[in-house]
Amino acid sequence: MTLVELSADLTTVALHTAATTYAIRIDRALGTVRPIHWGPRLTADAAATVPAWSAPRADSWEGLLDGAEDYPVDGGPRFGVPALAAEFPDGTAGLELTFVKQRSTDGEFVVVLADSHQPLTVELHYRVRADTDVIERWTVLRHTGESGTIVLHRHDSAAWCLPMRDDFRISHVTGAWSAEGRLHRDALPVADTVLASRRGVTGHHANPWVMIDDGAAGEEHGEVWSAALAFSGSWRITATRTGTGRCAILGGAGRDGVPARLEPGAELVTPVFAGLYSAGGFGSASRAWHDYQRRHVLPHPGELRPVLYNSWEATTFDVTEDGQLALAKAAAALGVELFVVDDGWFGARTSDRAGLGDWAPNPARFPHGLRPLADEVHRLGMAFGLWVEPEMTNPDSDLYRAHPEWVLHVPRHRRTELRNQLALDFSRPDVQQWAFGWLDALVRQTGLDFLKWDFNRPFTEARGTAWTGHALGTYAVLDRLRAAHPGLRIESCASGGGRVDLGILARTDQVWVSDNTDAVDRLGIQDGYSQVYAPATMVAWVTDSPNPLTRREVPLRFRFHVAMAGVLGLGGDLAAWRPDELDEAAALIAVYRDIRPVVQHGALFRLRPPETGTPAVQYVHEDRVAVFAWRVGADFAPALGRLPLHGLDPAANYRDDDSGQVHPGAVLTGPGLALRLPEGSYASQLIRLRRI
Ligand code: GLA
Repeated sequence: MTLVELSADLTTVALHTAATTYAIRIDRALGTVRPIHWGPRLTADAAATVPAWSAPRADSWEGLLDGAEDYPVDGGPRFGVPALAAEFPDGTAGLELTFVKQRSTDGEFVVVLADSHQPLTVELHYRVRADTDVIERWTVLRHTGESGTIVLHRHDSAAWCLPMRDDFRISHVTGAWSAEGRLHRDALPVADTVLASRRGVTGHHANPWVMIDDGAAGEEHGEVWSAALAFSGSWRITATRTGTGRCAILGGAGRDGVPARLEPGAELVTPVFAGLYSAGGFGSASRAWHDYQRRHVLPHPGELRPVLYNSWEATTFDVTEDGQLALAKAAAALGVELFVVDDGWFGARTSDRAGLGDWAPNPARFPHGLRPLADEVHRLGMAFGLWVEPEMTNPDSDLYRAHPEWVLHVPRHRRTELRNQLALDFSRPDVQQWAFGWLDALVRQTGLDFLKWDFNRPFTEARGTAWTGHALGTYAVLDRLRAAHPGLRIESCASGGGRVDLGILARTDQVWVSDNTDAVDRLGIQDGYSQVYAPATMVAWVTDSPNPLTRREVPLRFRFHVAMAGVLGLGGDLAAWRPDELDEAAALIAVYRDIRPVVQHGALFRLRPPETGTPAVQYVHEDRVAVFAWRVGADFAPALGRLPLHGLDPAANYRDDDSGQVHPGAVLTGPGLALRLPEGSYASQLIRLRRI
């Protein structure tokens, strides 16, 4: 079937995905695009019989169009939140758009609108593909005049209008440092619910996606509409529910009170605000987002992520060449594949008070530079990586002393320091050039395979354009660096999971999800992360017990089983691990390497949520299955006897790789898989099955 289909009467456009249809009608009289359908597959001719939504009474105060346009602008009979609000050189505001043209190529459909009185065109872009139900939408705003500045007070990417339902519920995550990914599922009020970052970065406190359902959806059943924004600077998503029963989700880059300015001839291309309809509950929505990231977002989706060791929790700032070498040898002996030296290797960086910005190896710590360590790590059979935080500087640094003008700052204001550091203005071409210069040299001279790219403070005192321009500048440096070094792999980090979104995932390979490495806390953090983001990007370390942050003591096996449900890493002080712990770790790493394709490339089923105290997840990839089950506390936890599995063939048989036992598929999906968790608290089990 063609992806973009026009109805025979030419009124309606059906955009087809793998299993769904999004249908629209261009209202030429009003110069707008009306949503017709977003749900199961529908032909364009069938969609053409569906009337566009209108208010109960045409003369009502409700606004004919509120919640019923694909791109509501400020102007005319509209009283809802606009996607676009502009102020023109003549001092007027408000738009009156007219239809100019439409075009369609290879799954992309574009509607061009123009203001009737002002030099502004609005191009609405839609992209559908046959292998995903995710639809990408973005908007191009162009100043077509010769003079004067157009001020864009709001410039969202798109508005996604839902079909009418009796009720609406919203799902989203909130968080904080070391407490990312807390899932909320609440009634959507008849109001404008705004999720936003005013921090210049994606943020821990919220994440740019929402899911909406009618209150009846569950993990594996019911209709779910979701949207996610591909942007890493300040952002805003508004879920509007009107008194007339409409629901729409608007999303875009930017921060209230900071307008964008369009000069003559210039254009603004918004980030993608992607949308997804799923008929199979929240779990199927998550799997569709994961699959979309693997097919169309991640730069190296086919690669298996290596088992990494990171030195941060073992040494913090106490980095020495000998110490790192000893850790590298211990890591290699366990089967680790990538060794990463974290903060503290450069400049005067012996604490978080100095040195950020001075990216030369500390001569007292690495008298011959990093090359000898890198060579030794390579000789041990591991790839070599380094921590960097290119967008930041300590005031106590040679960089800041040379370029105080490079930091985000408003004249006369106090320079707010957070973690003793200031943010550089990456919207400046000279700062981008400097960053690319030293990063390129560092990668080349050290023989680096991997960067952990950190960002440890939100913005304050930024000039207007930096709230979004900094992120675009960071993208430019990342893109250039990756083009210059095709073998380089990058991990996104911002004090843990403060920068994860579809924009950064298009330029990095994996994410450091949280600085909280407590395995029990991590079950909730990973559950929140997995709502939208793929397990192949979710890095999790096994660290020491008691946990350095929470002081909780958890057995090694449980810590491993939690970290093995994503991209496994180690972050403990291996020198302090007992021989029996090292043996157990080596054995579990070998098991992870065996099951890794299933976890990293498979479909994730969240069988039981963390709040039960007995969570379980399942991955299915080709003919293999991995099930992880945990019991946090033996006291109040419900008995975890049998676990019905998903995504299996009831007619097939499955053999347990470890016990050899054969299970009929119909038993696994019906009565369920019988578990054999050890006694007591912090018990866990990994079951590997293979279809025979
Ligand atoms: C951030 C990161 C940590 C570590 C430190 C180093 O907090 O999230 O993993 O890299 O910085 O300073």
